[in-house]
Amino acid sequence: MNFSLRCASRILCEVLEAEVQNLDDVYHAVEKLNWPSFFSPDKTFVVSSSSSDSKITAASLNLKIKDGLADSFRRQTRERPTVEKDAPQVRVMARLHRKVLSVSLDTTGTPLAQRGYRLAGGDAPVGELLAAGLVRMTGWGRLCRALRTGSREKVFFARVSAEDNGGKRIQKNESEPAVEGKGRRIPAAIPLAPEFIDPMCGTGTFAIEAALQLLNRRPQIERKHFGWQNLNLFPDSVHKQMEPLRRQLRSQELSIADCFERLSFYRSKVLERDDAAQELTPPIRCSDRDKSALFAAQKNADAAGVRKLISFQVSDVSDISSPAPQGIVVMNPPYGMRLGETDQLAPLYKTVGDTLKKNFRGWQGWILAGDENLVASVGLRATRRKKVFNGGLECLWLQYVLF
Ligand SMILES: C[S@@+](CC[C@H](N)C(=O)[O-])C[C@H]1O[C@@H](n2cnc3c(N)ncnc32)[C@H](O)[C@@H]1O
Repeated sequence: MNFSLRCASRILCEVLEAEVQNLDDVYHAVEKLNWPSFFSPDKTFVVSSSSSDSKITAASLNLKIKDGLADSFRRQTRERPTVEKDAPQVRVMARLHRKVLSVSLDTTGTPLAQRGYRLAGGDAPVGELLAAGLVRMTGWGRLCRALRTGSREKVFFARVSAEDNGGKRIQKNESEPAVEGKGRRIPAAIPLAPEFIDPMCGTGTFAIEAALQLLNRRPQIERKHFGWQNLNLFPDSVHKQMEPLRRQLRSQELSIADCFERLSFYRSKVLERDDAAQELTPPIRCSDRDKSALFAAQKNADAAGVRKLISFQVSDVSDISSPAPQGIVVMNPPYGMRLGETDQLAPLYKTVGDTLKKNFRGWQGWILAGDENLVASVGLRATRRKKVFNGGLECLWLQYVLF
């Protein structure tokens, strides 16, 4: 899981769940555990807690858990591990909600969001975990799987998800009757094509995550060390399996050449496109009006090893047009945090809406927006709206079926 998960930040192994009334209960529940069976006293550790709907604060939880843990070690081994706040070998994570205390050991270490490719920063980049999840929600992940398996069947994105449709799956086929929407007919299922564009790419996070999914490359496959290696939770045989497992997962990746071959098959045989240049066209395109953002995106794509799958272009969003009849276009336009900025940005959102309408017919558009008022300026009716959090900021992930 640590090698592979794209949207998780840490994988925790729970060692205690208990009902507690006060800090004494916390101490006793923690002290009773056999901590030396979890890790050895020569390892450094830190406790990091969170608390909700309780009078007990996170800071006092940290202290009590640390005391209980240290006393448990002393009682059983006459030694205790030392606390190291900045680079601990073992991270103990606790969460108290009302009266329920859960204590876990972190098996991950450095958070999984840190993929190692973000060498160049930029203007409000979207988090890697969020970007991976949002890309997946567009149907891109399903399309990538179809490509890998050499499927001869078109992949569709259902306009109405099963959960929006009272649990009923909708038939994903083109001949299905379209659904009426304000006098216009919205197709019930949209064919997905392996074309992915981010015309406001910034540091390139969406594009890079899309490319990693296309190659089936696990985000942490290169990582040499995880938190679980400092724990005694797993027998030696598991530690020894790490390298064979890494090799096995690597063998499931597509090479760049393989990837182009499969793209070409899907474009010509499944989608029946016959444009001559399509074989060589990278499936992912990044553009931004800011040259330095584009440099950052290129540098990061290089670091991620996916640059050959992405083309880069300095361009204003209004000048971008669709290179194929269908595809996925994603955007994360700037959003104003201060008063007055929203008004200044409204024309940009209108341009985004106009560009989608004019230049991307047949495509699926997705916008990550931080401001409901700006969304209105897009001037298109969203076919799906999903509330998501980018860092601490509540945002909307909006789908526009462009027809
Ligand atoms: C919030 S940032 C995108 C961050 C990006 N998702 C990332 O992960 O780094 C918005 C980007 O939109 C770009 N931008 C703003 N106005 C634009 C326009 N008219 N045309 C193209 N790009 C534009 C900015 O240069 C900036 O890089």
